[in-house]
Amino acid sequence: MNTPLLEVKDLQTYFFSKHETVKAVDGVSFTVNEQETFGLVGESGCGKSMTCRSILGLVKSPGRVVGGEILYKGDDLLHKSKREMQAIRGREIGMIFQEPMTALNPLLKVKDQIIDALDKSIYNTAEKRYNHALEMLKLVGIPSPESRLEEYPHQFSGGMRQRVMIAIALCSGLKLLLADEPTTALDVTIQDQVMKLINRLRDQLKMSVILITHDLGVVAQMCDRVAVMYAGQIVEMTDTRTLFHMPRHPYTYALMSSLPGAAGSSQKRLPTIEGAPPNLANLPEGCPFAPRCRFAQDICRKEKPELLPYEGDVAHLVRCHIRDGRTQFVGATAKGKQEGGAEQ
Ligand SMILES: Nc1ncnc2c1ncn2[C@@H]1O[C@H](COP(=O)(O)OP(=O)(O)OP(=O)(O)O)[C@@H](O)[C@H]1O
Ligand SMILES: [Mg+2]
Repeated sequence: MNTPLLEVKDLQTYFFSKHETVKAVDGVSFTVNEQETFGLVGESGCGKSMTCRSILGLVKSPGRVVGGEILYKGDDLLHKSKREMQAIRGREIGMIFQEPMTALNPLLKVKDQIIDALDKSIYNTAEKRYNHALEMLKLVGIPSPESRLEEYPHQFSGGMRQRVMIAIALCSGLKLLLADEPTTALDVTIQDQVMKLINRLRDQLKMSVILITHDLGVVAQMCDRVAVMYAGQIVEMTDTRTLFHMPRHPYTYALMSSLPGAAGSSQKRLPTIEGAPPNLANLPEGCPFAPRCRFAQDICRKEKPELLPYEGDVAHLVRCHIRDGRTQFVGATAKGKQEGGAEQ
């Protein structure tokens, strides 16, 4: 099923201060198809959350979307009014965050928080609203939903709170769910349950999901396609299988090769790569990854690479002058040492 639901084109979201401009999202383009789970990965600060916030119209000052298009069902969300965006957030696109406790109101019963999220023109009687709230708790697998509706957030465990958040996000027949590290604060078994729930809901409700995660195991389990971000840009984008088996960008390659190989191994979190992430207000002249790249050559330090199809495959995009994850990298290392030696 390859009908695009969302098309993000050349999105730019910057933060402005007196002294500098931080390019948090710097020309990001991707498509999310109907009923697909699209993953966004990359180290802390690379622009994943800002990409999602831009889609929802939730970037706060001093940040601003300064360019690009966000086509949802063909309509540019960047041209919608605040009110229209509110309606879209309520009916079409929902978001769940890492820490549900901060997003839930501790003083309100769960029932009232779900009901608050309902469209009152559709659920126009108290009975309809109550029944829908009940149905939502059942949908997300909360046991004894009748009595749970009358409870407050602190009476729920972390995993159950995240289920409540998902129920709230799903209140109005969602088409697209943005999940920003939805399980990071939860322990491993609960993480797995919440991911399975998101998978089941995606199929049952025929929705699409954008999943931000630090966990490559979750990427493998959940995502159809993945974009790897670095310094506010997508550096590689392809289907999940290709990403794991034939990574072509040195950053992806570094992520994958520092995994201890075997499937089902316990280290699944995004490995740390040597060197510091770049300063987004003062990016180097060439490729932002070059200072940390084992394979960098002269051109990498001088010219910014474009995101281009790998060997003509438009479904596999790579932003790299060298552009080969394994075979050529071996040669490139030796060559890079000869050429790059004097320059370092
Ligand atoms: N309020 C702010 N003022 C200035 N810069 C900001 C602000 N919020 C975010 N940024 C910049 O935007 C960049 C991207 O932030 P974002 O939250 O999207 O990162 P992320 O990829 O979601 O990271 P994490 O994995 O830690 O959640 C940050 O590196 C930071 O430089
Ligand atoms: Mg984030």
